[in-house]
Amino acid sequence: MSNMYIKTVTGMSVVVAALMMSPVFAAEHGVTTAPKGSSSNVAWTAEMVEFVAKGDKNRGGQLNQDLFCASCHGQVGIAPSANWPSLAGQRAEYTFKMLKDYKEGKRKGSHSAEIMTATSQLVSDQDMADLAQFYASFTLPPLPVGVSFDAAVGAQSKSIVTRGDGKRLVAPCQSCHVANGEGQETDTPALAGQTPDYFIKTMQEYKTGARSSDVYSRMRLIAKVLTDEEIVQMAHYYAGLTAK
Ligand code: HEC
Ligand code: HEC
Repeated sequence: MSNMYIKTVTGMSVVVAALMMSPVFAAEHGVTTAPKGSSSNVAWTAEMVEFVAKGDKNRGGQLNQDLFCASCHGQVGIAPSANWPSLAGQRAEYTFKMLKDYKEGKRKGSHSAEIMTATSQLVSDQDMADLAQFYASFTLPPLPVGVSFDAAVGAQSKSIVTRGDGKRLVAPCQSCHVANGEGQETDTPALAGQTPDYFIKTMQEYKTGARSSDVYSRMRLIAKVLTDEEIVQMAHYYAGLTAK
């Protein structure tokens, strides 16, 4: 637990610290039921899609408060800080998959991922579906207060976002994330309005392979051939999509 983290969210750090010491966390953390090498345990069967679709957003809103998710992701899914992701308007299946991936130790890669691994031990599958529907019930987020983007920098990535790069076999980002960055079924996330700091951090983690729960390595293969500069440009492009 770094000092920076303790200073930022004192209340939650106590909860997370207590969790990490609890036998439940230790047991679940130590044991994995995943087949070796698979990137995620979440398989989108019709039953699974229906289960998430039936999540109760009102109960999810209550959990967002009671489990302190709001302290880092905001009351309505708009993060209060540049380095924490906003969740408003996110696709429910993607949010559900992420919570499962964290809980089952599949999404790793950074100290902040460890925070989510600890936090997600608190939530059941039903809670995940409810939380996912709660965040999905909002429109795509504006940037957090005090966070800005540079439209000119963002514009430099327009060609690769809309047309891709055949030479490097990079498919256009929008072929999966859709033209307005709203994501699509089943679990391709919305990117519009995401904070640039988080966007860059997570793309770098796909690039190094530290974040590896993307099924079929879809994002790892793409991020690997992008330059650091291009990643920054894309972060500003997507951050700008919800700017008024
Ligand atoms: C102490 C701050 C903190 C708390 C409390 C917290 N989160 Fe997070 N959350 C983060 C950070 C930081 C990340 C990014 C982690 C990473 O890079 O892997 C994150 C990532 C996520 C993601 C993945 C977002 C994406 O775009 O991929 C979801 C979903 C999420 N959190 C949901 C929740 C829910 C639900 C709760 C409450 C049960 C919660 N979080 C509590 C800080 C927090
Ligand atoms: C073949 C489809 C596909 C293409 C093309 C694609 N993505 Fe993705 N992207 C995905 C999927 C699926 C995920 C979720 C992966 C996971 O489960 O970790 C994702 C996740 C992401 C995330 C993480 C979002 C979050 O909230 O943490 C970012 C950022 C991202 N993509 C950016 C891009 C950019 C930029 C491009 C273009 C260079 C791109 N993607 C091209 C399918 C795609």
